[in-house]
Formats: sequence, C-alpha cells, structure tokens
Amino acid sequence: MLQVRNLVARYGDFQALFGIDFDLKQSNIVALIGANGAGKSTFLKSIAGQIPNKGGQIRFNSEEISHLSADRIVREGVSMVPEGRRLFRSLSVEENLRVGSFAGRAGRWTLDAVYALFPQLKDKRHVPATALSGGQQQMVAIGRGLMSNPDLLMCDEVSLGLSPAVIKDIYKVFPQLRAERLSLIVVEQDIDAALGVSDYVYCFMHGKVTLHGAPNELTREQISAAYFGLEAA
Ligand SMILES: Nc1ncnc2c1ncn2[C@@H]1O[C@H](COP(=O)(O)OP(=O)(O)O)[C@@H](O)[C@H]1O
Ligand SMILES: [Mg+2]
Repeated sequence: MLQVRNLVARYGDFQALFGIDFDLKQSNIVALIGANGAGKSTFLKSIAGQIPNKGGQIRFNSEEISHLSADRIVREGVSMVPEGRRLFRSLSVEENLRVGSFAGRAGRWTLDAVYALFPQLKDKRHVPATALSGGQQQMVAIGRGLMSNPDLLMCDEVSLGLSPAVIKDIYKVFPQLRAERLSLIVVEQDIDAALGVSDYVYCFMHGKVTLHGAPNELTREQISAAYFGLEAA
C-alpha cells in the first residue's frame, strides 16, 4: 500500500536522506529503527508532505502523493503521531482529539472509539492535556492521529521517556489496529520493542537503509552492524 522509491530529502544544503526504497503492505506493522540523526523523522515527514525539499516517488494506495500538500495527504489517509506528541497544551483531552477529526476523514474512529481503546482517557476528557502523565499524553497523540481515520498511521518515537509498563500498555494497541486493517510505521530506538511488535523492520543509518527484513530472519549481529555501523564480533 506504500511504495517509496529513491527518496531524497534536504534541509537547505544538508542532505538528510539518500535514495530510500521502502515498502509497506496493508495491515502490516513496520518498525523503523536507527540511532539519533539517522533520518527516521525526516522519512516520516517526507511521506506526510512536511519536507518541501525532496525527490523520488511515494506511492500510497496506488497514487503518487509526493507532490501533494500535507493537508491533502491526511485526507488521502496518512496520519502522523509526531515525536514529542505536540499536543495543544491549553486544550482539553477531548479538544485535542477533535483536532484530528477536523483535518481528516469520516470513519470508524470517533471520540467514543478512542476512549474504548484507551479507557484511561475517558475520565480525563475535560482535563487540560498538560495535566496528564507522559503515557496518557502519548495516548492522546495516538488517538488524535486515529481521529482522522487513516489507512496508514506513522508513530514517531512513541516510547521515548516512558516507563516499561506504560510502553507495554501503548504497544498492545498496535496489533489491535493492524487487525482492523490499519497499516503502521513505528519509529523506535528500543530494538527489542521494535522487533516484538513488527512484521518487518527497516534500519536506517546516516540517511540510508542499512538493513531490512522480517524480525525472525535478522540476527542480533546484523542488527547491531546496521544500527551502530559496527562489524559483528
Ligand atoms: N529542521 C532541520 N534543519 C536542518 N537539519 C535537520 C533538521 N531536522 C533534522 N535535521 C538533520 O537531519 C538529520 C536527520 O534527522 P532526523 O530525521 O530528525 O533523524 P532521526 O529522527 O533519525 O533522529 C540529522 O543530521 C539532523 O540533524
Ligand atoms: Mg526523530
């Protein structure tokens, strides 16, 4: 459903991505791993139409989307949960969730559906987003992404700064979403979390794909080499 070919991206003179090829099948979870600065966020932003200076092909549901505006790409069914959550601090949980539906499409994801997925949010619906724990804020950010009723949900660094128990709570919803025919790209620095949840893994280093494969086909040594640039011992 997503086919990226020879994607390059630049910030001014600085080139961040160098010819990325990437495929995602419907109802699959792809984990994208790699060290800080590898280009993971730039890759997601490129798909979402948030990087003006880019080249290459991005086909989504058989349509070329690389020339479309960010708003239009949301309406085509691509939604992003950005790094750092980016909630509106003064708005309530419910108002933040509604923001997702303004931009998006009609469909299964309503406020009630998000509260059913993350029951903790229902009691807090009228509380300002800033009064929530980090994990609950991440749930709001994912809920907001779902409220646009995407076919593809891209989650950037969802587990950053959260405790293992909270990470587990959040990660358990991804297979539920996949079962509803959503496709997901999950950017993750924690390799075990990434391998545990995904159908397929891409590893980025210095703006290039250094490794890809199904988790059960990849060895620890291959992943370390692709992630850190180390030779296997
Ligand atoms: N707005 C920006 N302006 C200039 N350089 C940027 C900008 N955003 C990211 N970069 C650079 O692009 C490279 C890739 O960054 P990023 O995609 O954020 O990596 P990751 O998400 O894997 O940590 C890094 O070298 C980073 O410094
Ligand atoms: Mg990033």
